Amino acid sequence: MEALDIDKALNIMPTPVTLIGSSWQGTDNVMTAGWAMCCSVKPPLVSVYIYHKQLTRELIRQSREFVVNVLASDQVEVSETCGTISGRKADKYAKAKLQTRPAEKVNAPLIEGCLANLECKVVAEYEVGDHTLFVGEIVAAHDGGRRDPLVYVEQKYADILLKPKA
Ligand SMILES: Cc1cc2nc3c(=O)[nH]c(=O)nc-3n(C[C@H](O)[C@H](O)[C@H](O)COP(=O)(O)O)c2cc1C
Repeated sequence: MEALDIDKALNIMPTPVTLIGSSWQGTDNVMTAGWAMCCSVKPPLVSVYIYHKQLTRELIRQSREFVVNVLASDQVEVSETCGTISGRKADKYAKAKLQTRPAEKVNAPLIEGCLANLECKVVAEYEVGDHTLFVGEIVAAHDGGRRDPLVYVEQKYADILLKPKA
């Protein structure tokens, strides 16, 4: 077996592509996150990992809530817009032409056209290296209809080939 460069190792696991919505005192923001996954069934918990310099981290730390919007395979452009500019420099909802509607239980809006929108309240927060791990309890969830999910691996976008269970 050959050695794997550690920077490459960090990108070897395929991830979903999500838009994390946050809101605090009138500032709404959205950023792309691949490091997001479910981590408990009862209670239903989701974990997201936010780099320490992101505006998103500040807004979640203040508001104690966020929305996970799960992207479909045809949403690469939105992912790039929200994943390459900070909300400190631009209103990404406007820049990415995102259609939104109010959430039920949190202040950040839901993004239309996604596979699902998960409204979350923060139940735990940990500093993990250069990221903050926020664990959120899903307090409301919305189905955007079944389509192929968008996947990110080795810093490239990919589609999932769904196979029947063996
Ligand atoms: C596909 C993709 C996945 C990303 N995953 C994460 C992630 O899991 N955590 C993170 O902090 N940044 C991630 N980023 C980078 C942020 O989206 C980016 O730095 C963004 O500009 C931060 O926005 P903000 O300052 O408005 O919060 C990702 C970017 C892309 C394109």
